[in-house]
Formats: sequence, structure tokens, C-alpha cells
Amino acid sequence: MKIAVLKEIREREHRVAVTPQVAATWVKQGIQVSIESGAGNGSWFSDQQYAEAGATLGSKSEILSGADIVMKINPPTEDEVATLPEKSLLVSLLYHRSNAELVKSLNSRRISAISLDAIPRISRAQSMDVLSSQSNLAGYMAVIKGAGHLDKIFPLLMTAAGTITPARVLIFGVGVAGLQAIATAKRLGAIVEATDVRPETKEQVESLGGKFIEVKGAEVGSEGGYAKEATDEYRAKQREAVNKSLSQADLVITTALVPGRKAPILVDEEQVGMMKPGSVLIDMAAEQGGNCTYTKPYEVVNQNGVRIVGAANMASELPINASELFAKNLIELMKLIAPKAELVLDKNDEIVAGCLICHEGEVLHQG
Ligand code: NAI
Repeated sequence: MKIAVLKEIREREHRVAVTPQVAATWVKQGIQVSIESGAGNGSWFSDQQYAEAGATLGSKSEILSGADIVMKINPPTEDEVATLPEKSLLVSLLYHRSNAELVKSLNSRRISAISLDAIPRISRAQSMDVLSSQSNLAGYMAVIKGAGHLDKIFPLLMTAAGTITPARVLIFGVGVAGLQAIATAKRLGAIVEATDVRPETKEQVESLGGKFIEVKGAEVGSEGGYAKEATDEYRAKQREAVNKSLSQADLVITTALVPGRKAPILVDEEQVGMMKPGSVLIDMAAEQGGNCTYTKPYEVVNQNGVRIVGAANMASELPINASELFAKNLIELMKLIAPKAELVLDKNDEIVAGCLICHEGEVLHQG
């Protein structure tokens, strides 16, 4: 069996799907691992390290020739799809619900595809969950980025010249990224508050030393662990509940997403107007439309002294750890789909059934 690992071509992408360490594991199992030259450069993994791990290196066409499995991080472009070997298995993020054309192109070439973002959020799949591993790092990075933009420190500091009060951090959305952001901001000494439509997150916030802002009198609920779309009534109550904290916050981090929909606006123009000049808002939902009205992906918008940072693809800013965890997720997935170094796609398995988007000329999950 041959695995080919493509170099990412997305702009500002520094990660690679497979690290030399993970390549070595597969090579030891008798799998041929072929890496596109330079694929690891952005994560500081050299071609030489891959070669020492027993992988072969080559151009895109060389590594793809005869590949059974092609691995990458971002969804392939149409041009990339055209280069994939027929009947091979693509393993990458696909976001198939919003990429129906891409799935059609893959399927028309009889390429099977596992969409890593479609791996079910069940306990058994946790070790393969790239959304979690990457969001975790992104949550950390949001705080570090915020600290970089802020013109003040986070912790309480008592000095002979006087006392500096701790920074106040407000977090919207307590999923994987939000939880890591709370933990990171707490470690840096900030006072942290957080809110989420899912009431079960209250306990998680408190266990990390944060204060949960409850939105009373309106419910949204969740489906399969994910938030449902908030109603206008909820949105109005949420504004009431958070506005005082928003006006006092030094750093606001927004992470709120609703699967299959544009990100909800949680901080509108009027609310930005309430924020302190010098404060910073890191919008982690930037690529899904943003949680703040002013957000522009990859840009910093200065609105009367409030800096709104359109944080996109943040895991890529920590490419060493992000690639390591991504590759470890792939090792776990491979244990499931190729337990004896041979591909076995068992459609009766809940994880395979959830993430195998097309197979043998059939689209199994429509966009
Ligand atoms: P996400 O990235 O889809 O959304 C981030 C957060 O925003 C969520 O907590 C969501 O409730 C919140 N949110 C959405 N709309 C909001 C609004 N209007 N106002 C405030 N907050 C809002 O979430 P993520 O990180 O992907 O986690 C989703 C769920 O999956 C969580 O329950 C998590 O615990 C669960 N999960 C389960 C795993 C497993 O068992 N394998 C692995 C990872 C996550």
C-alpha cells in the first residue's frame, strides 16, 4: 500500500498532514510513504527528516503515481482533484456540506473520499478528531494573539510603583477552542468570563476558574452536541446579559459557530461602540462570516480604538504542534481503516459511515 502526502497550496498554510515521526510508523508497518518535496518546510520538517524516516520524496506527479491513499489537510482544488489517481482514497478536510461540486468531481473520477471534518463527535473517535486537535491550538493562539495586540499585561501586578489590575477577558462560545482560550487566559492571570448557548458549558467554564454568563429566560439548545441557531429572543437576552462585561473587557474572543450556517453575529456595531478604546476582539469565526459585524478575515479593523482581528486558520500559526496532532489523528484513523496495512472501509462502522463521503462511484453523503 502506498500513501502519498501532498504539499499544502492554500495561502498562509504552514501545516503538513504527516510528520516524519508518523511516516516512520507507517514505513515500519510495510507501507510505502511518499512525500511531496518541501511539504514539511512550513512546519520545519525537512525533506531529509522524512527520508531518514524511510519515506520517499518526489514531485507531485511522482508521489501520486500508484498511490492508494492521498493525504492532505485542506480540501483539494479542482486542479488537485484532476491529478489524483483514479480509485485512490483521499483523506482530507472536505466540508462536503458546502462543497457539493468538489464531491461530484471526486466521485466522477471514482476517487473515494474521507472528510476529516465529518468524523462523528463520539468518544471512540476523539483520537481521530482533527477539528478538536486544531481548535484546541487555535484557542490557545487566540489568547496569545490577543496579548500581542493588547497594550497592557494580563496578570495582577503589585509593584512599588503601584498595583496593576488584571486584564478582563470575555469569551463567546465554549466549544473546544473557547475552553482552551479560557484555560490559557486564566494561566496568564486574566479575569475570565464566558458565555454559550449550551447551558451544559457552565460547569466546564467554572471548572477552569472562569465565570459563566448565563442568558436567562430564553433557550436555544443543541443537537448532537452542536449548538442550534439562536432565536432573536435569545439574541436580545444575550445582549442584555453580556453588555456590561463587554464594556469592561480588555480582550474579547469570539468562537461561536453553528454547523452548516453562517456564524451568528454576537457583537454588532452598537456593541463595538460600547467597548473600551484600546480593547481587542479576536474573531475566530472570521472565515465563517464572523461573530462581529466589522470582522474581515486576516485583517485588523480599527473601529474607534477597538481592534477587531479577523482570525482565520489559526492552527496554521502553530504549524509544528498542529501538524504533529493532525498526523497523530491520521495514525488513529489508519488503525481503523487499514488495521493490517491494507485498506478496509467497513461502512457498517459508525465512524467510517459518518466520514466516507463518496466511494466506488457513489456519493454517500449529499452536500
Ligand atoms: P463549534 O466550533 O461548532 O462552536 C463553538 C461554540 O459556539 C459551541 O460551544 C457552541 O455552542 C457555541 N455557540 C454557537 N452559537 C452561539 C451563540 N449564538 N452564542 C454563544 N455561543 C454560541 O463547537 P466545537 O468546539 O466544535 O464543539 C461542538 C460540540 O462537540 C461540543 O459539545 C463539544 O463538547 C463536542 N465535542 C465532542 C467530541 C467528541 O466526543 N469526540 C470532540 C470535540 C467536541
